[in-house]
Amino acid sequence: MSCTHTSDVLVVGGGVIGLVTAWRAAQRGFTTTVVDPAPGGGAAQVAAGMLAAVTELHHGEQTLLGLNLESARRYPDFVAELTELTGHDLGYRRCGTLAVALDADDRALLRELHALQHRSGLTSEWLSGRECRRLEPMLAPGVRGGLRVDGDHQIDPRRLAGALLTACERAGVVLRPAWAERLNVRRGRAVSVTVSDGDELAAGSIVLAGGSLSGRLAGVPEAVLPPVRPVKGQVLRLTVPKRYAPFLSRTVRAVVRGSQVYLVPRENGELVVGATSEELGWDTTVTAGGVYELLRDAHELVPGITELPLTETRAGLRPGSPDNAPLLGPTELPGLLLATGHYRNGVLLTPVTGDVLAHALVTGELPDEARAFTPRRFGANDRTDAVLTEQLA
Ligand code: GLY
Repeated sequence: MSCTHTSDVLVVGGGVIGLVTAWRAAQRGFTTTVVDPAPGGGAAQVAAGMLAAVTELHHGEQTLLGLNLESARRYPDFVAELTELTGHDLGYRRCGTLAVALDADDRALLRELHALQHRSGLTSEWLSGRECRRLEPMLAPGVRGGLRVDGDHQIDPRRLAGALLTACERAGVVLRPAWAERLNVRRGRAVSVTVSDGDELAAGSIVLAGGSLSGRLAGVPEAVLPPVRPVKGQVLRLTVPKRYAPFLSRTVRAVVRGSQVYLVPRENGELVVGATSEELGWDTTVTAGGVYELLRDAHELVPGITELPLTETRAGLRPGSPDNAPLLGPTELPGLLLATGHYRNGVLLTPVTGDVLAHALVTGELPDEARAFTPRRFGANDRTDAVLTEQLA
């Protein structure tokens, strides 16, 4: 027989964004439930964990840069708090990043990025090919120059997810291993979610944090449905045998023939190589072509990679949004908040997202640093009040 369970906050989605939201909500004294068939899973199981606010800067994303930098600034305290609480080592490495160029076109692109970083007040240093190889001797002799960014660090997202799960459990968060099937709206307010075992989970506030699936929950009125789409990324994991260590001492990345490739070396010997970026809907197949392109490009950058055991291939789905920035906080539908659309920056934005959503749950408002990321920036403007009222009733 189905029954109703009630909590103050219900989080739909147990990836790192959902878990950090639930943990921070529980710390504020809210009774909190997370619904997810496999809490701790999601895109973080595939992600490389680069905290790359500076090296992943793009034209037109200055507002997002502010949030990315704010989250990077919060990372050391966030990691210290989680580690102290759970005893988990999160693999947080302040090792820096080296972005290199292999030909004249890549070099021009990197020079352009350097100028943009400079105009944005960010710290990065231009190095000659020889200087790059002095830092990272495994780099190909053909490297033409590079950008050294000591402020872009890394974390192990799988460990982060594990630690957040433990932190949630310790804070009393209830984990419901089920699919969220339908949002229930009554008298113009989101009141509950029906889950796959038939139960209804009622809550004062419902946070939709389902990553790329966030736009698919039945029952969410179209006017507030997040415009999130899946962007596939294929990622490889290799192992650096002890005799080769240190193979690389920092994250190394490049754009090779227009595609991003990065190599993220962990202290435990894992080397993550990513990532493809494919608009193929819900497809998570690992393809021969994807693996080939990643290995081909990584090999051009670091030829010695072909000696390493290939231990894992995997594909995940980034939650892309129309402006590549997340959707955070209250929607036009009372009782429904969003924490989704983090696209390429989910791991980086985890600390600030937890704080922002906790603030929104307590006050009903977004804090200053997150005002630009309101979900209300999409859609509502081009609908008449009458249409909105009808959809949300
Ligand atoms: N931020 C790296 C990626 O999404 O591939």
